[in-house]
Amino acid sequence: MSLEREAIRILRANDRGGFTIPTAGLYPFQWLWDAGFSALGWMKFDEARAWQEFERLFEGQWANGMLPHIVFHRPEATYFPGPDRWGTRHTPPTSGITQPPVVASFVRMMLEQAEDQTLAQTKARALYPKILAYHRWFKRERDPANTGLTNTFHPWETGADNSPAWDEALARVPVDPTLPPYTRRDTSHVDPSQRPHQAEYDRYLSLLEVYKRCDYDQLRLHRECPFRVVSLIIDCVLHRANRDLAWLSARFGFGDETEIAGWLEASQGAIEALWDEEAGLYYNYDRVQDAPIRVGTSASFLPLYAGTSSPQRAHRLVRTLESWAEQVRYLVPSTDPGHPSYEPQRYWRGPVWAIMNYLIAQGFAEYGYPEAAERIHQDTLKLAELSGFSEYYHPTTGAGLGGGEFSWTAAMALWWEVSPWAH
Ligand code: GLC
Repeated sequence: MSLEREAIRILRANDRGGFTIPTAGLYPFQWLWDAGFSALGWMKFDEARAWQEFERLFEGQWANGMLPHIVFHRPEATYFPGPDRWGTRHTPPTSGITQPPVVASFVRMMLEQAEDQTLAQTKARALYPKILAYHRWFKRERDPANTGLTNTFHPWETGADNSPAWDEALARVPVDPTLPPYTRRDTSHVDPSQRPHQAEYDRYLSLLEVYKRCDYDQLRLHRECPFRVVSLIIDCVLHRANRDLAWLSARFGFGDETEIAGWLEASQGAIEALWDEEAGLYYNYDRVQDAPIRVGTSASFLPLYAGTSSPQRAHRLVRTLESWAEQVRYLVPSTDPGHPSYEPQRYWRGPVWAIMNYLIAQGFAEYGYPEAAERIHQDTLKLAELSGFSEYYHPTTGAGLGGGEFSWTAAMALWWEVSPWAH
């Protein structure tokens, strides 16, 4: 079967009626940034269904504008922590944290590529006020001091759950002595050597108890949450999403461009301040220690996707990518392969992720490095051909790891193959 047909089959199989689950068993609900990537995939063969993905996602939006990272549209027993553990008050039930805000950018891409322009304009215009409310929430509640960067309160928010970037910050989180007992479900679906360690899980869940004690009050979390980092994935994705939100505002005549320009001015300088000249890449930042987190990750390239980098820095990033390419067979490993914490099979500590590849390649292409972008694109296709649409891949052997029949990996093959970097 061709890659394209197989990808369509997977998205259809993971469709639960207007929303796409990442993969059966391991992730049986709707996830925020997965929904964004899945929508791009659907766009290639069913435009109406693609727009519906966002409509279902925004059913989970909170009154304060926050878009949660999971919408529990209907009960499923194969995942933990479910709605009871989160204890949020929303219908449908949701988690209480967010994820990389890809929506505005993907809505713009979909609008620009839609064959059915009438439908696309109606859908994008209706989504706009909801996306604006979400971005206002980010600014108001995650960057109240207007630093230009947002506070992230959980590794799960970053999308890169067990990245070594969070090791030290997470190790400082005390394990809650009153933590209610729990049974992990992830390790019954996937080999434990490809998943986070137990010590990390205890802290993920201890953080959840902190949110509940704070009643999900973000301003209290700035003071009381023991885990506070700046995540390059969140802030770079948000910067680009704000650019695209301003574009949508102008396109539909909503008139919010000045407000959004103020946010962009702050984040432009603040993201660039995360650059490390010696390492030749950008670092995440620990807000509790007030210090950069000195481990290169695939997110270290994302200021190109944001569009904040200078041409000189983009050039250095190409060199950094080349040095990584000498150490692995397939780009882009999620952690610097020369770093001691690199683990090629463990989730975000080394494996290649198709969706990160897409964002990184997009950045290189836009900065005038089509060869780097093409190399990343070809590696992504080779991995899919070799090992199917896995959740992630071993950067040296190319083995498929984590969940199988994975929606966002399949979606990338559809979207990226047809329109490599048209934006
Ligand atoms: C894992 C990933 C996260 C993703 C989710 C669903 O938690 O780390 O990025 O959104 O799975 O696929």
